[in-house]
Amino acid sequence: MNTRAIQATIVAAFLIVAAFLLAAVGAAEATETPYKVVDGKQVDSNTLNGWRTWRGMACERCHGAQQEGLVGPSLVNSLKVLSKDDFKKTVLNGRMEKGMPNFDGSKQVVDNIDYLYAYLKGRSDGAIKPGRLEEISK
Ligand code: HEC
Repeated sequence: MNTRAIQATIVAAFLIVAAFLLAAVGAAEATETPYKVVDGKQVDSNTLNGWRTWRGMACERCHGAQQEGLVGPSLVNSLKVLSKDDFKKTVLNGRMEKGMPNFDGSKQVVDNIDYLYAYLKGRSDGAIKPGRLEEISK
């Protein structure tokens, strides 16, 4: 190959890599997060209801105030792998024999299960900070 051909090959290779990177960014944007968060402490009203449900049910008794595990497993870790469906199933039906109670008798949990997931997903992603939250100021 002469110099010209080598240069053309290098340019072509760069263009291919750039195209792949753009596609990857597009794909990442397409998988939307279920929560909105500003500064780690302000969230949308649905996610705030998820946090309130977490507090109301005192899930922290077993999973820790920062969701990093106590007698129950770390949900920060769990939600990196647990699907949303499995999350809902586990929280609503429980795993009685393993010490995880069922919450399908709680109207607050049933009504807010998607938001509870959104809150814990945000914690797991590291986007939402532990502790008190407030609604995103308008
Ligand atoms: C009495 C203690 C206790 C309370 C209260 C409790 N959990 Fe659990 N939870 C556990 C235990 C123990 C496990 C592990 C079960 C197992 O080994 O499969 C678990 C498992 C889970 C899992 C599955 C984790 C995984 O990796 O598979 C999720 C999700 C979960 N809990 C969410 C919650 C939420 C949300 C609440 C509050 C609404 C809550 N838990 C309240 C004890 C508790």
